[in-house]
Amino acid sequence: MQDSNIVLEGRGLSKRFGDLTAVDGVSVAVRRGQIAVLLGENGAGKSTYIKMLNGTLKPNGGAVYFEGQEAKFGSARHAVKRKIHTIYQNFALIDLFTVEENMRLTFPDKSAEELEKMIEQYGKAVDLDERVALLPAGIKQRLEITRALGSDAKVLLLDEPTSVLAYEERDRLFKDLARLGQERGLGILIATHKLQDVMDYCQEVVVLKGGRLVLEKPVRDTNLKELTVAMFGASEELEKAPVEAGPPSESEVVLEVRNLSVRGDNVPMAVKDVSFSIHKGEILGVIAIAGNGQLELADAVYGLRKPLKGEVAPGLAILKAGRKLRMGRVAFASDDPVQMGLAIDLSVRDNFGVSLLDQMSKGSLVDWKALEEFSKRAIDKFEIKCYTQEESLRELSGGNIQKVLVARELSRDVDVLIAVHPARGLDLHTTYLVYKNILEMARRGVSVLLISEDVDEALYLSDRLGAMYEGELSEVKAKPLWTREALGSFMTGAHVMRGEAKA
Ligand SMILES: Nc1ncnc2c1ncn2[C@@H]1O[C@H](COP(=O)(O)OP(=O)(O)OP(=O)(O)O)[C@@H](O)[C@H]1O
Ligand SMILES: [Mg+2]
Repeated sequence: MQDSNIVLEGRGLSKRFGDLTAVDGVSVAVRRGQIAVLLGENGAGKSTYIKMLNGTLKPNGGAVYFEGQEAKFGSARHAVKRKIHTIYQNFALIDLFTVEENMRLTFPDKSAEELEKMIEQYGKAVDLDERVALLPAGIKQRLEITRALGSDAKVLLLDEPTSVLAYEERDRLFKDLARLGQERGLGILIATHKLQDVMDYCQEVVVLKGGRLVLEKPVRDTNLKELTVAMFGASEELEKAPVEAGPPSESEVVLEVRNLSVRGDNVPMAVKDVSFSIHKGEILGVIAIAGNGQLELADAVYGLRKPLKGEVAPGLAILKAGRKLRMGRVAFASDDPVQMGLAIDLSVRDNFGVSLLDQMSKGSLVDWKALEEFSKRAIDKFEIKCYTQEESLRELSGGNIQKVLVARELSRDVDVLIAVHPARGLDLHTTYLVYKNILEMARRGVSVLLISEDVDEALYLSDRLGAMYEGELSEVKAKPLWTREALGSFMTGAHVMRGEAKA
């Protein structure tokens, strides 16, 4: 029987890449006024499925139906004409355009004021004249979501829309999606690896594993436990107790940041008079909502931005060993691996090679054997899903690309690690794998500066932490001295509204 509520449907879709079957005979229906979820771990086939639904990829088997008719979308552009909008995991904004120019592509008739209001619904205000290339990932995602929600779409396909949103923003997004779904009879499909995304506002869930459909149910008939097991198989890895944080260390200071102020790309000051020190083997967390200066802070500590004032001083341990604080002794897992840190057209192995050459060369010659061995170990350890180490990053899933960067930076022989939301885009299993490795690095004596937008992550990993708001860092205190509420209050600027600080 044909369900007349179904607006877009994939029937028995399959996609092969060479010998790999990325999606294997999977049917998913998107219904008017409902939110369906495509759930699965990194590499499960979610993005591939979405791209078949919108015509970017041609299926090897099965067919797509739009409003009951077989739809042969020649391209995603064709699908957009039929009012199927997609928000991709890696952004589709035009980097060289400003925020306003990007928004105008979708809303040619809205005034600047209206555009600003729309964007502000999903978080902090954004300067319309800012060039998109310079924005943090969280804000880019917000713009994409604003564009999609404001359009006249009949179907919205969202690939991991919440991966860079803070908790409140995520809740607001789901509320808005649910409301729009109801009001306009919009059909929505969300690909995600986050279980929390499924439970509150969605009606149907389909779980993919290794390209196969392993579970399909109304959300009200399932629960977190069942979904976890469907996604990952056994769940023992996830229930492991966290590694206890070490006591605040009495050990020597390895890195000291004194009264650091950093110019922003569009604001006169992105970081305002920030000071902290990190001891040997300590993890210091800085938590903030996207766009509060935390990326500029990380860049300045790494040496990618020149501070306006203040300094980043290497501690005695580094100086005694005759080293300056320089790239060689500092690992950096950046905010946006595709833009910075990785070369998307190079192979997995060569991406390891580019920043491990000091560890992997004999004289001026690359030690290919050592590099190959290293790649093999890193691929195993971080469970990177790739054919061979020669495969280009372009062919990896979003989460697996992120793993390549994290695996490389977490395997370097360094004194300091700067980790900027290291688990973004990773499924729960891999997230814990990454956390475990960061904690082990710290236990080995590496000092870690963790930049996070996720309160759970910051509390899980940090020995001491502080929150950042509009460039200012709160007091940095040992973890047990913070409550979630206090962190949240600082991150959202509630402390400012209460008139506690700031002229
Ligand atoms: N263009 C391509 N060429 C070769 N293999 C590909 C290509 N695109 C995807 N794959 C492979 O297909 C599988 C599914 O990838 P897909 O991107 O759909 O996963 P995903 O569920 O979206 O994962 P993630 O949560 O990491 O984004 C992966 O093993 C990936 O390496
Ligand atoms: Mg994906």
